[in-house]
Amino acid sequence: MRTRRHLLELASLDAATIGQLLDLAETFGDISRRPIKKVPTLRGRTVVNLFMEPSTRTRTSFELAAKRLSADTLNISGGSSSVVKGETLLDTARNIAAYAPDIIVLRHQDAGAPHLLARHIEASIVNAGDGAHEHPTQGLLDLLSIRQHKKRIEGLRVAIIGDIAHSRVARSGIVGLSKLGADVIVCGPPTMIPPGVEALGCAATFDRAEALDGADVVMMLRIQKERLEEELFPSDREYARAYGLDPDGLRRAKPDCLVMHPGPINRGVELDPRVADGPQSIILEQVHNGIAVRMAVLYHCAGGAG
Ligand code: NCD
Repeated sequence: MRTRRHLLELASLDAATIGQLLDLAETFGDISRRPIKKVPTLRGRTVVNLFMEPSTRTRTSFELAAKRLSADTLNISGGSSSVVKGETLLDTARNIAAYAPDIIVLRHQDAGAPHLLARHIEASIVNAGDGAHEHPTQGLLDLLSIRQHKKRIEGLRVAIIGDIAHSRVARSGIVGLSKLGADVIVCGPPTMIPPGVEALGCAATFDRAEALDGADVVMMLRIQKERLEEELFPSDREYARAYGLDPDGLRRAKPDCLVMHPGPINRGVELDPRVADGPQSIILEQVHNGIAVRMAVLYHCAGGAG
């Protein structure tokens, strides 16, 4: 079996590898600014996007990234696959592996699903979000977006506000940012902050004002209702009042504080539209950077870099 390179999580990458992936993404970003947005780098390679959970940005940007590298792509989504007929993930993956793809990009509702495929399937596995565990390419595109504006990650004060307990974006964000030396504080109601979260390398508070004070970057997160068995807050209205971000709240942060959100936004809940669409928002730049980061990750996993 050839040595395969996966991207399963940021937790097992060191700061130097994360930095290299960001530099590589910066290079691939140039391709998306050309009139002809395509290079032959992965010609003849096959990338399968296996998405068992809903996705707009992640799925489309993985597909565009693979196409811009000239790889052949195949998209399979949960609702239209034989999973609905009772096939297990491993059986589905084994059948896909019979086509000998180079890379399988997996989004799955269960934490650890990509790790399972990495153990049993002969292809590189890229985690496109596994339950509430990690979303490493989102973490990388968030780091890239911050680095482009602030020219550094080290020493920045980053507030991550929302449903930290059920968010894979939060986990990859905390891990990636703290590895690169940022000062991360997570914030949300007590029901949404997992006990012991500090072990990931961040501070935690239930007080929105404390999180926002002096922040260089604020990352707002959606309540992950699809992962909840019961409501964790009395109502969306009260949540917005206590933990949402509006122009008044944003004034507590530094004047040049960046506002980020991985999408999809629940407007009027975690984010006031005036902030989401305001001058400090880099939300659509995050989406744009998703392509370059995923090109870098596909190239890295295909054995391209280093
Ligand atoms: C996130 C996800 O799926 O984890 N979205 C994304 O990938 N851009 C965040 C979310 O669904 O709230």
